[in-house]
Amino acid sequence: MALYSEKVMDHFRNPRNVGVIEDANGIGEVGNAKCGDIMKMYLKIEDDIIKDVKFETFGCGSAIASSSMATELIKGKPVADAMKLTNEAVAEALDGLPDYKMHCSVLAEEAIKSALDDYHKRNGQ
Ligand code: FES
Repeated sequence: MALYSEKVMDHFRNPRNVGVIEDANGIGEVGNAKCGDIMKMYLKIEDDIIKDVKFETFGCGSAIASSSMATELIKGKPVADAMKLTNEAVAEALDGLPDYKMHCSVLAEEAIKSALDDYHKRNGQ
């Protein structure tokens, strides 16, 4: 069996939602101290819906694929749904990641949670 699923390779080669949202109202940045990879998430939230989401990831292929898939999973969804996104759900949507690459999907979950925290803080919650 190939090390990476076709979905991982697809999202690594053609990542969705890469970039910056200039007027984002939730921004989160997280890093993994061990591998040094960094992920930044931008959210544009209106009426409690994730209208737009973009990311910048300086990291491995699995981290790029995980961020890409995570943005696809929360785009257009209510904030409450995005809060519940787990790294397991991201990895599952990618048809799996090798065990030693699961921490890359954790980075995606944490980046989204951090951006949502920022959104809540800006709104005094
Ligand atoms: Fe660190 Fe993938 S190796 S995020």
